[in-house]
Amino acid sequence: MKPPDETTTSEEENPRDEESLREPGGTVNGDSIRDTVLCGDARQLLQTLPSAAVQTIVTSPPYYGQRDYEHESQVGREAEPQQYIDNLVAIFAEARRVLRPDGTLWLNLGDKYHRSHLLGLPWRVALALAESGWMLRADIIWHKPNAMPQPVKNRPTTDHEYLFLFSLQTDYYYDADAIREPHVTFGEGSKMRGGRRHLGQRGGTPEQGKNGGRANLHDGRWDQAFHPLGRNKRTVWSVSLGKFRQAHFAVFPPSLIRPCILAGSPPGGLVLDPFFGAGTVGVVARELERHYVGLELNPSYLELARQRLREAGCP
Ligand SMILES: C[S@@+](CC[C@H](N)C(=O)[O-])C[C@H]1O[C@@H](n2cnc3c(N)ncnc32)[C@H](O)[C@@H]1O
Repeated sequence: MKPPDETTTSEEENPRDEESLREPGGTVNGDSIRDTVLCGDARQLLQTLPSAAVQTIVTSPPYYGQRDYEHESQVGREAEPQQYIDNLVAIFAEARRVLRPDGTLWLNLGDKYHRSHLLGLPWRVALALAESGWMLRADIIWHKPNAMPQPVKNRPTTDHEYLFLFSLQTDYYYDADAIREPHVTFGEGSKMRGGRRHLGQRGGTPEQGKNGGRANLHDGRWDQAFHPLGRNKRTVWSVSLGKFRQAHFAVFPPSLIRPCILAGSPPGGLVLDPFFGAGTVGVVARELERHYVGLELNPSYLELARQRLREAGCP
């Protein structure tokens, strides 16, 4: 595997040592593109963006062979799956330069059957990105409780997609506290004796009951079981599909991407979506007091995004 972060941009163009980069979310490099949308092919537009400018990328490229976005440069209509993988690797190589060194990429992908064979494309793309220098940090299963029924009788109905988390280096911005989830074992509703009383009190682990006297609950496992903000976020996220019907393609449910933006960027940070579609990333970024930059090939989708952003009171 190649080492991450091997950009060839000159120091002048890519001032990675600048003051702006010391603080998470520093946006000096991104000031000129804050809260803007650009129309065109992500591959080309990314080359025009400043280096090390965005804190996190949250995006969902077209799935392979799924929809026609009516443009010759569109991703997803390649003749062979390998061309699709190669195209995405090339686009995200350019996106890597635009990302701050402590930034992250949250990439949503769904799979596809071809002549009864499941192609395994999300993982093939993820492994190709890892080969190209990205660090694969997590594979999150997006479980869709209201997924469309499928007319299949010889295999289970698919009700999940993937959300991959990548970074460029081992030390990256990730606010775990911003996305903790409720404890299960020792939550308010728990029937387990000895746990509830101690919730949120460091060192206040159960002295009686099932876990009485367990030293390991006093250190590392305290965080798991008793952290006042909840346990660390898990990798299966159950999020229903949204109801936004104006777009002819799948848009992100806001609840799916809120954790990505909250953990991936501090308030004021810049969030990029190179496949902006109807602009959900922009709307949610502003709702969470982050900034956005969106790239989109199809002008009519971009107009839809602009309208949604205006309606949400976004700049
Ligand atoms: C699945 S949709 C994204 C939807 C978006 N996440 C939302 O919530 O609205 C994928 C988008 O990528 C756009 N697209 C396809 N190829 C592109 C390319 N080469 N450059 C930029 N956008 C592209 C499509 O037009 C489509 O709007």
